[in-house]
Order: sequence, then C-alpha cells, then structure tokens
Amino acid sequence: LSILVLHGPNLNLLGKREPGVYGIETLADINQSLEGDARSLQVQLVTYQSNHEGALVDAIHAALGTHQGILINPGAYTHTSVAIRDAIAAVDLPTVEVHLSNVYRRESFRHHSYIAPVAIGQISGFGLESYRLGLRGLVQYLRQQNA
Ligand code: DQA
Repeated sequence: LSILVLHGPNLNLLGKREPGVYGIETLADINQSLEGDARSLQVQLVTYQSNHEGALVDAIHAALGTHQGILINPGAYTHTSVAIRDAIAAVDLPTVEVHLSNVYRRESFRHHSYIAPVAIGQISGFGLESYRLGLRGLVQYLRQQNA
C-alpha cells in the first residue's frame, strides 16, 4: 500500500507559525513521525506540501495509479476549495482529512469543510497526533476494503 500525504498552504511554516495554535513541531517533524508509523504499518509514504491550490489538485490527480489513499491537511483550502474537493471526488481514492487545531472551536469560517463530504473521515484538534491517527485509520480502512 502506498499513501500520499498532502499538506496545504502555510504548513511549511509550522513550528514558527502561531505555535500556540499549531504546536511547535515543524513539517519535517510531522513527516518524520509519519515515516516511522508507515514503517511499522508496512506501507509506503510520499509527502508533499504546496501553497498552491492547483499544485495540490495536480498532486491528487497524479495519485491515481500510484497511491491507494490520501491523507490531507488542506489548510485554509479546507474552507474555500471546491477544486480540491472535486479532485478528490474525481480520483475516488479513500481520503482522510486532518487538522492540527480543533477547527470547530475556532472562528466560524473554519467550521465548514468542502473536503469532509468526500473524505472517509476527519480528525481535528490533536496536533501531530491528528496526522498519526488519520494515517492509522486510513490504512485500516484500506486493508479492510482489500480483505
Ligand atoms: C488547519 C486549520 C485551518 O483552518 C487553517 O487554515 C490551517 C491549518 C489545521 O491544521 O488546524 O492552515 O488546517
């Protein structure tokens, strides 16, 4: 199994960016932690970050035939991007949406996700653990699907 991990806009600044909200871990820390989990779960992992909506759409398209599932933190595009939602629907790969912060206890504009209706599930509020839990859930889902 191969999983594509996508990080959306501004997540390249993790560690420096609003650490009170997003934690002190950098994106490299998160990717490293996920790589370790991937080894124990015996899955392949490819990670990619972009600040550009179209680049994320392209990455989702390219996942078809290469990866079996997508773990995505769409960042602010969660709340704005019909294009990313449509890309996920188009490739029809099982996708888990994750957020470091609990978006539901923040500003109301963060309460709506365009991505959630095309995701198999969403995890929000556990910092780095959101990604780890998301990966575990996604792999379990894919293994059950293929059993
Ligand atoms: C975020 C939450 C979004 O509302 C915000 O725009 C982000 C990060 C999170 O991981 O908590 O950039 O996706």
